[in-house]
Amino acid sequence: MPTTARTVLFHEIGEPEVLRIEDAAVPDVAPGQVLVRVEALGLNRAEVLFRSGTCYYQPTLPASRLGYEAAGVVEAVGEGVTELAVGDPVLTGPGIEMSAQGVYADRVVLPETAVLRRPDSVDAVTGAAAWLTYTTAYGALLETAGLRPGDHVLVTGASSGVGTAAIQVARRIGAIPLATTRTEAKRRQLLGLGAADVIVTGESAPEAVAKEAKRLTGGKGVEVIFDAIGGPGFRPLAEGLAPGGAVVIYGWLDPRPAEIPWTWPFTIHTYANGVLTSTPDGRRRSTAFLNAGLADGGFRPVVGEVLEGLDRIRDAHRLMESNRHTGKIVVRV
Ligand SMILES: NC(=O)c1ccc[n+]([C@@H]2O[C@H](COP(=O)([O-])OP(=O)(O)OC[C@H]3O[C@@H](n4cnc5c(N)ncnc54)[C@H](OP(=O)(O)O)[C@@H]3O)[C@@H](O)[C@H]2O)c1
Repeated sequence: MPTTARTVLFHEIGEPEVLRIEDAAVPDVAPGQVLVRVEALGLNRAEVLFRSGTCYYQPTLPASRLGYEAAGVVEAVGEGVTELAVGDPVLTGPGIEMSAQGVYADRVVLPETAVLRRPDSVDAVTGAAAWLTYTTAYGALLETAGLRPGDHVLVTGASSGVGTAAIQVARRIGAIPLATTRTEAKRRQLLGLGAADVIVTGESAPEAVAKEAKRLTGGKGVEVIFDAIGGPGFRPLAEGLAPGGAVVIYGWLDPRPAEIPWTWPFTIHTYANGVLTSTPDGRRRSTAFLNAGLADGGFRPVVGEVLEGLDRIRDAHRLMESNRHTGKIVVRV
C-alpha cells in the first residue's frame, strides 16, 4: 500500500492560490475505515467558501484538507467493514469534516459511513457529480418542503450543481420546475435540462421575479421556492409563493442580510444536507432515491466541465468563482 498520497492542503485562508499539492501520509486503515483510490473529484461551492473563510464552519489551519465528493475504487478495508470490499466502485460524501477528511487527494482514508457503493453503470466522473446535488434536492424538496406532483417549484441559481439536480428531482415526481439565472446565455441550457420556464434576473428588480412566477402559474404562485441566494432579494422573492407555500433556504450566495417577507401564510425552512445524511435512515432513503434515478436514467448528473489532473484544482476553483459553469465542475485525478 502507498504510504503517501498527493493531497490538496491549504495553510491559510485566501484565493485559489493558497491551494497546494503536497505528499501527505496515508494513515493505516483502522477498524471501520476504508482506503479509496480517487479517480475524480466533484467540486461544491462550499469548498470555495471554506477555502476563503466564508463557509458556516472554519478550517483548522495550517494543513487543512478540502472536499466532500470523490469517486474511485476501494483499495483496502479495515476490520469490521462488511458493506464494502476491495475493488468496489464507490463515491464519498456523507458526514465528511473537510479539514480532517477532505477528499481532494489521490487516495483518502474515510470511515465506511462516508463512502457509498457506486452503481457499476456509473463512471467515476458521473459518480463524483451525483451525490451531494441529488441528495440535497431530494431532502430539501421532498422530505422538507413536501413538494408534490403538479406543484410548481421555483429554483433560484438553477444553473448550479444543486439547481440542475433539483430540476430533475422535480420532474421525476411530476412537479414543474421554474428556474432563475442571472445569465441570459444560460436560458437555453436550463430549458434543455428540463426547466419548464426560465426567469433571467439580470439587472431586473427582485420584485420582477415574483411577478413573473405568478404570471407563469396563472396568478396562483409557486408552491415551493428552493432558494440558494437569500440576501435582500429574499423578501420580494417570497411574494411569488402561492398561499400556504414554503421556501426552503439551503444557501446564502448573497451574504447580505435578508428580511422576512410580509406575505403570508407560508413556511420558511432551512435545510442542511449533513443532518439528513449523517443518520443511517436518512442516508438509506437519500441513497435509495439517488440510485433509483441513476439506474433508470432519470437522473443524468450535469457535468459542465472536466479538468484533467489534480494540478488543475486551482483552475477548478477559479472557474467556480467565475460562475460561467452550468452543473458540476469535475477534476479527473
Ligand atoms: N444546505 C445544504 O445542505 C447545501 C448542500 C449543497 C449546496 N449548498 C449551497 O448551495 C449553493 C449552491 O451550491 P453549488 O455547489 O450547487 O453551486 P455552484 O455550482 O457553484 O453554482 C452557483 C450558481 O449560483 C449563481 N450565483 C452565484 N453567486 C450568486 C449570487 N451572489 N447571487 C445570485 N446567484 C448567484 C450562479 O449562477 P448564474 O450565474 O446562472 O446566476 C452560479 O453558477 C451554495 O450556496 C452551497 O453552499 C447547500
